[in-house]
Amino acid sequence: MQADPVRLERSGDIGLILVNHPPVNALSHAVRLGLIEALAAFEADGSLRAAVLACDGRTFIAGADINEFSQAPEQGEPLLHVFLRALDACQKPVVAALHGTALGGGFEVALACHARVIAPDGYVGFPEVRIGLLPGAGGTQRTPRLVGPLVALDLVTSGRHVPADEAMALGLVDEVATDLRRAAVARAGQLAAAGLLPRVADRTIPAFDRAAFEAALALVHRRARGALAPVRAADAVTFALTSPLQDGMAYETALFRELLAGPQSRALRHLFRAERIAARPPHGVAPRPVRRVGVVGGGTMGSGISVALTDAGLDVTLVEVSPTAADAARQRVQAVYDRQLRTGRLSERLHEERTGRVRYESDLRALRDCDLVIEAVIEDLDAKRAVFRALSGIVRRDTVLASNTSYLDVNLLADEVDAPERVLGMHFFSPAHVMRLLEIVRPARALPEALATSLAVARRLRKQAVVAGVCDGFIGNRILAKSRAQAEYALEDGALPADVDAALEAYGMAMGIFAVLDMAGLDVDWADRRRKAAIRDPRQRVVPVFEQICEKGRFGQKTGRGFYLYRDGQRLPDPDVTTLVEAASAARGITRRTVPPEEIQQRVHAAMVNEGANVLSDGIAARPADIDVVLVHGYGYPAWRGGPMHEADEIGLREILHRVEALHDASGLGWEPAPLLVELARTRKTFADLNR
Ligand code: 3HC
Repeated sequence: MQADPVRLERSGDIGLILVNHPPVNALSHAVRLGLIEALAAFEADGSLRAAVLACDGRTFIAGADINEFSQAPEQGEPLLHVFLRALDACQKPVVAALHGTALGGGFEVALACHARVIAPDGYVGFPEVRIGLLPGAGGTQRTPRLVGPLVALDLVTSGRHVPADEAMALGLVDEVATDLRRAAVARAGQLAAAGLLPRVADRTIPAFDRAAFEAALALVHRRARGALAPVRAADAVTFALTSPLQDGMAYETALFRELLAGPQSRALRHLFRAERIAARPPHGVAPRPVRRVGVVGGGTMGSGISVALTDAGLDVTLVEVSPTAADAARQRVQAVYDRQLRTGRLSERLHEERTGRVRYESDLRALRDCDLVIEAVIEDLDAKRAVFRALSGIVRRDTVLASNTSYLDVNLLADEVDAPERVLGMHFFSPAHVMRLLEIVRPARALPEALATSLAVARRLRKQAVVAGVCDGFIGNRILAKSRAQAEYALEDGALPADVDAALEAYGMAMGIFAVLDMAGLDVDWADRRRKAAIRDPRQRVVPVFEQICEKGRFGQKTGRGFYLYRDGQRLPDPDVTTLVEAASAARGITRRTVPPEEIQQRVHAAMVNEGANVLSDGIAARPADIDVVLVHGYGYPAWRGGPMHEADEIGLREILHRVEALHDASGLGWEPAPLLVELARTRKTFADLNR
């Protein structure tokens, strides 16, 4: 810990209150104290007419110190509010100079200053909802006064980072300046010379469209899907419309404390930490430089991966089997960018730049100069082996070779190449340019440099990386297979696909299991299920409905039928599927019953946790928290529950073990309680104990 995180300097007759508290200048106890003291010193110094509040390092204050949230409340003194009150009472102007990410409490400090200047590449925002909180230092009260309730509602409920030019257009800042410090000093001087002391606190709420606000509120409630923080943040903005600032601040503080003490913020803060630890590269290992990336295969995955790479500024060579197939891949990539151009998400310039950065080829030798090659051909071991074998004779010996396989043994692919220690898996999720999760599959032989390189690429792509070991399905698909099996058993017990999906969506899942299957295409999983069926113990409980649907050529949304019927853009129950499900129950001699939503939720969750424990014992995931990150970012598990393993700790592992035992009783072979779960429950430990 550094001695003096805040200091007062001078630039002529302008004071410079400077924060230097790496890595992100968070408002830790010492920083709050330092700010209060520096402001007092500035006020007391009659030779200083105005001040600039700025930060050293990579960013302006990025918010409260998240690590302090778990401490006892009395350790929080002095509160940030003390500094904000001092700023409000200050009789000389203070200008905030924002660079990097001025977020949360950091932007709240800026809003209490008398003006805000931002660097062109800076961002502002209130990401508190992402950790289950709301802006707790006036953000929900000052923002509607400054820019109106509609913008305020958007910012505090979405948590999005607003770039400098948009912040300027919205009125969140007063100036965008390349020479930030100089511009802020000049503005501070001008305010002092004019005798101006503009304060957001003195403003009243500007006129706004009430109906639009109500509609936006309704949307926030609809989108929350069980998350409390956006709803509370919206409450606080609504409160601001009819209340004086001080009352609003008190209301906001009460809501903030309630959220901070609650399970959702605990869960989201667990994820915040887990995401960063999961993506950490091996200590002291430098990644290899990556400029040009080869992608083999230009289907849905290959083209999505190419878009993700180009979005991140990398050059791509995409290789298909023939010029015609390469052209089809070009059209797929082009279609994504054209849509972005049409919907205004991409400028003409960026459209041209990104589409121009992909080379399309039909000969693997075009990958000679690539630093990394990602294979994304069909999910067939022989096909993938052939690609790796061929690549081995073409690329440099230090080129990292990655497979986008979802299930297959990456070791067998490594066996095909010269220098197998540069081979690993990079398992993207579809659509690859949208989904955040990237499982990095690490074969035992993989070099730390290869791992570091793939993690660095993941970071560049703004993906959430998690390292997994080699097994069938890695972390995510292996756990999904078990939770899906429970969903299918629920069908046989008496539920219909819509009942299962409704239960899971009520739990907070982004989509129900059967709706997801239909969307992805049942044929994708069918091949894998056939492969598994061939090696499965015949005594295991299996529901035949999936296969029966596929045998009719119904592969989900794209064929108009799957677990559901798709008509006029609507997902409807399919009577044929009901017949199949009822027949499956009859064949097993099950009297169909109503399966309550809670039972479905608990069975699916218990299945995830039990398999998660096996995944840990097998060394496929290094930490329980890694499993949480995978399920949240790749499988729609509600983030506010923190992931299945965190949720299991919250419920208690003895209770979870009872639930798993019930699954075992009902479903038999393959559902034995995981030894690790049994051990943790017996010794009254938690999964969190293994995260340390
Ligand atoms: N408190 C404590 N540590 C923080 C932090 C914070 N607010 N924000 C980031 N850090 C730490 C990270 O844990 C990480 O530590 P590590 O190196 O040990 O893993 C380090 O800073 C760097 O963070 P990132 O790896 O995330 O760096 P990036 O450059 O990718 O991102 C960032 C920087 C955009 C600032 C990102 O870290 C971020 O979004 N931070 C959270 C910001 C936030 O949520 N602010 C609101 C806090 S709540 C609040 O302000 C309440 C107020 O309203 C009263």
